[in-house]
Amino acid sequence: MTDDMWTAEFWDERYSSSERIWSGAPNPHLVDVVGGLVPGSAVDIGCGEGADVLWLAHRGWRATGVDLSQVALDRGAARAAQEGVEATWLQADLLAETLPEQYDLVSAHFVHVPTQLFAPLYTRLGAAVAPGGSLLVVGHHPHDVETEVRHHHGDDILFTPDRVVGLLDPQHWDVRRADAPTRTQRVEDADVTVTDTVVHAVRR
Ligand SMILES: C[S@@+](CC[C@H](N)C(=O)[O-])C[C@H]1O[C@@H](n2cnc3c(N)ncnc32)[C@H](O)[C@@H]1O
Repeated sequence: MTDDMWTAEFWDERYSSSERIWSGAPNPHLVDVVGGLVPGSAVDIGCGEGADVLWLAHRGWRATGVDLSQVALDRGAARAAQEGVEATWLQADLLAETLPEQYDLVSAHFVHVPTQLFAPLYTRLGAAVAPGGSLLVVGHHPHDVETEVRHHHGDDILFTPDRVVGLLDPQHWDVRRADAPTRTQRVEDADVTVTDTVVHAVRR
């Protein structure tokens, strides 16, 4: 981890270093959790190159992708045009800015911030969920610090389901899922078992 990981410059440089950084496939927990929901408005926070936004848009969601990196957003927009789907792409720093509206789904996959910024960020994302809507937060679990794939992450960056659930007032949230499933990820020609934090909560 480096101190400039929270800047648009860092992420623009990271995305510019390669034609494509991520797989281009939607995240499996998004497909699993959101596949069963009725489409409405959705925002994907830290959407990167937009695979999750496109998956949502293809399934009838009015999908918005938000990211720090304009380079990544431009990639998502180009792919949406190629695939003939509509989506909105918004450059914003969610550590500093509030989302412009509420959504039926707020999804964030693998957006990791230092401990002191965790509560402000994820509380803000919760506030952007419309009544009856869903918050889906997926992250790398601290177990993964032990594995080769995430050896460069400090364990204060990764988070457990409890950290997310602890921010959700039970009077206002129905936590439908809070667990840490494992999956196999292909890394440099090897299969590695990784653990994800998955929290799905519905706003009352
Ligand atoms: C590890 S990538 C995950 C990308 C995508 N969600 C995925 O699962 O493939 C984290 C993304 O979060 C974005 N990001 C990091 N901090 C952010 C912030 N404060 N506001 C908006 N986006 C941010 C980065 O630009 C990057 O694209």
